[in-house]
Amino acid sequence: MLSSKVQDALNAQINAEFWSAYLYLAMACNFDADGKPGIANWFRIQFQEEQAHAQIFMNYMNARGGRVILKPIEEVPATWEKPLDAFMDTLAHEQKVTALINNLYAIAEAEKDYPTCDRLNWFVNEQVEEEESAQQLIDKFRMIGDNGMGLYMLDQELAARVYNVPSPLAAK
Ligand code: FEO
Repeated sequence: MLSSKVQDALNAQINAEFWSAYLYLAMACNFDADGKPGIANWFRIQFQEEQAHAQIFMNYMNARGGRVILKPIEEVPATWEKPLDAFMDTLAHEQKVTALINNLYAIAEAEKDYPTCDRLNWFVNEQVEEEESAQQLIDKFRMIGDNGMGLYMLDQELAARVYNVPSPLAAK
């Protein structure tokens, strides 16, 4: 059984994960329109991952007898002029998500809800990877600058990204 504090916090996090999905889908559409299909692919997989994060929380709430409440998803930005801008926004956004996960962890701990802390550990580690991958891509785009060949090659590299089902869903 989930306390109402933990249930509310989990529902807020589900909304944040869907907002993240929406943000990355907007980025994918932006770079599709901009003729950068590899970058669009990278963001489309990010979109899938965020939907999976929401699903992990929904499965967890159902397993604990909680009630999932889906709230409206706020509008996201629509345009990014350069890939570097989008990846800088990605890093800033993931840093905010890390703070949300940490806050959720603190709520669960205060409620002595150890199963929720345990579930959140996966997200704590995931956020380390999310921030690291955004930072690595920022570094690459900074290195390239406006070099057309460099941008073309990095777009090709990002076209190779494939979606992997996150382990908490793969185990189901
Ligand atoms: Fe669901 Fe990108 O964190």
